[in-house]
Amino acid sequence: MSSEIIKIFDTTLRDGEQSPGASMNTEEKIQLALQLEKLGVDIIEAGFAAASPGDFDAIARISEQVKNSTVCSLARALERDIKAAGEAIAHAKMRRIHTFIATSPIHMEYKLKMTPDQVIKKAVEAVSYAKTFCDDVEFSCEDAGRSDVGFMKEILDAVINAGATTLNIPDTVGYRMPSEMAQIIKELKQSVGERAVLSVHCHNDLGLAVANSLACIEAGARQIECTINGLGERAGNAALEEIVMVLKTRKDVFQNYDTNINIKEIYPTSKLVSTITGIEPQPNKAIVGKNAFAHESGIHQDGVLKHTQTYEIMNAKDIGLDKNSIVLGKHSGRHAFKDKLSSFGFNLKDEEINEAFERFKVLADAKKEIFDDDIRALIAEEITKIPQVFELVTLQLSDCNPGGVPNAAVTIRHEGEEITDAAIGNGTMDAVFKVIDRVCGVSGELKDYKVDAVTQGKDALARVVVKVVFDESKPAIMGHGLSVDTMLATAKAYIGALNSYMSMKEGLRSIKDKTGANI
Ligand code: KIV
Ligand code: ZN
Repeated sequence: MSSEIIKIFDTTLRDGEQSPGASMNTEEKIQLALQLEKLGVDIIEAGFAAASPGDFDAIARISEQVKNSTVCSLARALERDIKAAGEAIAHAKMRRIHTFIATSPIHMEYKLKMTPDQVIKKAVEAVSYAKTFCDDVEFSCEDAGRSDVGFMKEILDAVINAGATTLNIPDTVGYRMPSEMAQIIKELKQSVGERAVLSVHCHNDLGLAVANSLACIEAGARQIECTINGLGERAGNAALEEIVMVLKTRKDVFQNYDTNINIKEIYPTSKLVSTITGIEPQPNKAIVGKNAFAHESGIHQDGVLKHTQTYEIMNAKDIGLDKNSIVLGKHSGRHAFKDKLSSFGFNLKDEEINEAFERFKVLADAKKEIFDDDIRALIAEEITKIPQVFELVTLQLSDCNPGGVPNAAVTIRHEGEEITDAAIGNGTMDAVFKVIDRVCGVSGELKDYKVDAVTQGKDALARVVVKVVFDESKPAIMGHGLSVDTMLATAKAYIGALNSYMSMKEGLRSIKDKTGANI
C-alpha cells in the first residue's frame, strides 16, 4: 500500500514570530522562507498581511520568490483582512488564504460578543470572499480544543459549501490530551469525509503539542501545522522537526504516512531560525538541541563507540548535523570555506562567497579557532544584509576609568559622505547609542538588549540583539550585531535596526507603487 502524504504547514513566520523577541525583518523572513522551501514544507504561512505594513511587504516579497511551496497569509474573518491577504499573496505561484474565527463558547460570548449563528454567517462570508482571490482557502475554528464538536460540524459544513478546501482544528490554548484531540478529529472526519483536508494546529502549553498532533494523524488529520524549534505564542507550537522525525523513526507505527520534508535540511533550518531570532533551542530539546546527540556518561560513550544504535535511535547526519566537522582557522583556504558553506545548506553566489571569505579572514585574525556556529552567524549577517543606509566606519571608545566620563566617537557613512562625531553618556553603551542617534538624526528608544557568546572561549564572537523603537506609532525593530568586541557588536546591532527601519519604509513605498494596495 502506498503511503499517504501528511502535509506540513509551517507557521514559523507567523505564529513563530509571535514568540516574544522573535520578530524578524523582511530580508530575514525571505531567507527563512527560501530555506523552508528547500526543507520541503508544503505550505509556508508567511505572515498576517493586515497586521502591519511590514508583514504585508514580507508576504508580498516571499510570494514573488518562493516557487515550490504554497505561500499563505492569515486573515481574520473580516473583509479588510482578507483583502490585504489576497493582495499580499497575489503574485505567488501557489497561494492560500487562511481565515479564522473563534468557535468556543467563551470566545464567542466574551471576545466576539456574537451568537453561534452570527459566527457561522461571518465564517461563510469570509470564505466566500477569500475564494474571489484564490481557490485554496483554509478555515480555522479558533479555540477548537474548547469548542462544541456538534457546533464545529455545523460551521465546517457551511464553510465547505462556501468553498473551504482545508479545515483547521487548533488547540489554541494547548489544553487537550492526545486521546481527546484524536476523538475530536475522528468525529469531524466522519462528518467531513473527503470533502476537505482536516488539519490540526496544536499549542504546547502542557507540553503536549507534538503528541496531540501525532494522535490526530492516526485519527484522520492530513495536514499538521507546526514551527521550527517549536517557536510560537507562549509555550510555542508543535515542533516540525519532532513530528517529522517521529514519523520517520517510528515507521513501524506510522507505516502508511510520509511527508515531503527533506530531513537533511532540518538542522540547517533550525540553525537559521536560531541565528536570525537569537533564540537558541533549550540544550536538551529533542532533535535540534545542543545535547540531542551528545553522550556524556562513560557507559554511553563506550556503548556508542561499539555500536551507535546502543544509545542512538537516529543518526545525526540524517538531519544534516555533522559532528565530525572540521574546525577552520586562519590558514584555511577558500575551498574549505566554500565546502563548509555548502554543507550548511547556504547557496551563495560567487561574489557573496568572496565577500564572506574576506570577513572570515578578518575573524580568523581575531579568533584562534572558528567553529561552525561562528560561520553560520557570519553568513546569516551576510544573507540578511539590508541596504546600508547608514554604515559604521569606525568606533572609538574612551576607557572607563572610575570617576571618568564615558564617551564614544563614531564615523558613519551616509549617501557617500563620512560624518564623525562624539558623545558622552551614563555608560559606554549609552554614549554609543547617543552618538549614533545624533549622527543619523534619529532618537531611538532601546526596548531590549541581549548579548550572548556564539561559541566557547575567551575570544568568542559576541552576538548582540537589540529591539529599538524609532517611531512611536510603529512596533520595535530588531537589529543584530556580531563582533569579537561587544561594544562594536552593540553599535552594529543598533545601526542594523536603524537600517531595517529605513528599508521597511522604502519597501512599503515600492509595494504601494507596484500594486496600488491599500496598506
Ligand atoms: O492558535 C490558533 O488558534 C491560531 C489560529 C489563528 C490558527 O494560531
Ligand atoms: Zn496558533
